[in-house]
Amino acid sequence: MRIVLENIRELVQVADCSVRFKAGKEMSSLSVLKNAYLVMRDGIIEGFGPMKDLNDEKLDNDVLVELDCTNRVVMPSYCDSHTHLVFASSREQEFVDRINGLSYEEIAKRGGGILNSAKSMESVSEEELYDSAMRRLHEIALQGTGAVEIKSGYGLSTESELKMLRVIRRLKKDSPMVIKSTFLGAHAIPEKFKDDRQKYIEQIIHEMLPVIAADDLADYIDVFCDQGFFTSLESEQILMAGLKHGLRPKVHANELGLTGGVQVGVKYNALSVDHLEHMGVDEINVLKGTETMPTVLPGAAFFLNLPFSPVRDMIGAGLPVALASDYNPGSSPSGNMNFMMAMGCIKYKMTPEEAINATTINSAYAMGVDGICGSICTGKLGNVFITKEIPGYSSIPYHYAGNLIETIILDGQII
Ligand code: NIG
Ligand code: FE
Repeated sequence: MRIVLENIRELVQVADCSVRFKAGKEMSSLSVLKNAYLVMRDGIIEGFGPMKDLNDEKLDNDVLVELDCTNRVVMPSYCDSHTHLVFASSREQEFVDRINGLSYEEIAKRGGGILNSAKSMESVSEEELYDSAMRRLHEIALQGTGAVEIKSGYGLSTESELKMLRVIRRLKKDSPMVIKSTFLGAHAIPEKFKDDRQKYIEQIIHEMLPVIAADDLADYIDVFCDQGFFTSLESEQILMAGLKHGLRPKVHANELGLTGGVQVGVKYNALSVDHLEHMGVDEINVLKGTETMPTVLPGAAFFLNLPFSPVRDMIGAGLPVALASDYNPGSSPSGNMNFMMAMGCIKYKMTPEEAINATTINSAYAMGVDGICGSICTGKLGNVFITKEIPGYSSIPYHYAGNLIETIILDGQII
């Protein structure tokens, strides 16, 4: 089936397919076509251009849907390269505890936090887990996301980690979204291994990884390399084992301190290093010229009152930056990429152009889907959204808590 969008006020992020991400000064360039059309066939972008070039030949009998986008902006769907949206229950009590003065690390030390989520993961059925995650996928689809990475990591036992990864595999099959799956067995040390951390690490390496790799249950491997969680040396063991099974790393780094996570990520050619609330000159320098995407998670910094990453310094040093939601019950109970983009502008002083690059092409790269998502170019997936009537793309981060999205097209279907 063909869908044709006509009279588009601004067709945003029109790009050469060979552009894999934008770094440094390039992040402020955003190619926008005014008064444009966009044609998609069977979910793939077939062509686009100025309205004057849309002739009858392009509108043949095969066109089933024509949408008038007068005064509207069309954007490639957001790519959310970091989420934990498969979880069993929310954690409002910790939210209240933090308001009353406890820190994220103090709550974790008391057995709350990730361990709290792991407890509820034990008893939830696979079906319930699937249903609730599917509802969250639907929720973020309506907020403009078309591709999402989802991590395990609330299992912390072979059985529960596999349960989570099987749910993600089913979501991949059933959802119109593009989904990547990441194994995060090293999210926290379970209570029963707290006096023998190495034993849990051995379980990850020798019990979980071989099954996950054999059943093709994950695309990437992740480690929470941070203060109070996994040390650099522990993280290295785990990432090395993952690489042996063909899983490229993505690292949770520098959320709670300058603890070496960025350096570990770069050493093992991670696809991305994520969080980065604590960044020094060394962390910025080590990322230069690498294939690792620095990924900032505004939702977690906002929700936990953490320092905001020095994004201006990173871009000023020539680095690329991606933005993702970190959707999870503990540190960012929202997967709203409109809001993440607005935070990029408001709290991190990114221009709208930089924030759009960070939530589309750069975040597509950070989850390994830049070949099919993240920009408008012929041959990529036609996952796009159409806004309500607005003056231009800057309205999206400007209306930081609004939802300006009117129509969503995913996998060739109007949602
Ligand atoms: O990315 N930082 C580690 N992991 C998640 C939060 C996990 C949780 O608190 O449930 C994050 O913020
Ligand atoms: Fe996370």
